[in-house]
Amino acid sequence: KVLEGNDLQSLAKYMKSDSCRNICLMLGAGVSTSAGIPDFRSPGTGLYSNLARLNLPCPEAVFEMDFFRSNPVPFYTLAKEIYPSRYRPTLTHSFIKVLHSHGLLHTCFTQNIDTLERRAGVPEEKIIEAHGSFATQKCIDCKDPYDDAKIEKAILNSEIPRCERCKGLVKPNIVFFGEALPKRFYQSALSLELEGDADLLIVMGTSLTVNPFASMADRVKGCPRVLINLNEVGNFHRQDDIVLLGKCDDIVRRLCRELGWEEELDREWEA
Ligand code: OAD
Repeated sequence: KVLEGNDLQSLAKYMKSDSCRNICLMLGAGVSTSAGIPDFRSPGTGLYSNLARLNLPCPEAVFEMDFFRSNPVPFYTLAKEIYPSRYRPTLTHSFIKVLHSHGLLHTCFTQNIDTLERRAGVPEEKIIEAHGSFATQKCIDCKDPYDDAKIEKAILNSEIPRCERCKGLVKPNIVFFGEALPKRFYQSALSLELEGDADLLIVMGTSLTVNPFASMADRVKGCPRVLINLNEVGNFHRQDDIVLLGKCDDIVRRLCRELGWEEELDREWEA
């Protein structure tokens, strides 16, 4: 057993020790809710329980390719609501930047499409956007890339962007259901599982329900794992697992206090 106990103090102690040099993160929508972006599955507030007004066959259809081709309006209605430029990174995103500043961040795997990790100053090469993001976009037919400023203007004006070459629909490079995840995800996930790249895995703000992302948490072996979430999810029953329930912003603040990083965290967040 690597940890002295299964609490926040033991976690901080381990993070300060020489044994903990490489921290991997797995993130979900819960790390962005305090920015004002709803998550997907929280009852009442999650996007999927608020999509009824868009007349979808099922909530997930908003991220399905066939449905998008036949009716892109629901996706673009949603895209306008959650468009990243309307939001700023949270305290939890600043925590990731602080981990990087201390040379501890190995890889930040995120399911989030909101680009808030990079906007918090985490370098792109440390981030794996497993479900893609709003950062780039292309035509779904001829695959021609489309201009960033033009799509932002179209989305915020409730217009449907069309390819300038073939008039096909333009879609942000978000991974829809049935589409392949980026190659970088598979490569990095594999080295995390097989080569044991991580000394610590922190899972935050995700229901751990969408595969293959979710199952990575169980395939990671040989290092302590921490779950920081509002409610219990996944299978965190190993000897070296720590479960910290609550709002991730509150928990990372407490953790940073314990590590002596609280001022740095606030400076980073206010920057
Ligand atoms: P979910 O909405 O499924 O889960 C969010 C989790 O975060 C829930 O367990 C919440 O309880 C928790 N949560 C919410 N606010 C929190 C907070 N302030 N602090 C801590 N925990 C909090 O979102 P994901 O797991 O990210 O796919 O969903 C996975 C994928 O499903 C998404 O990437 C999306 C969706 O279909 C695409 O966008 C392609």
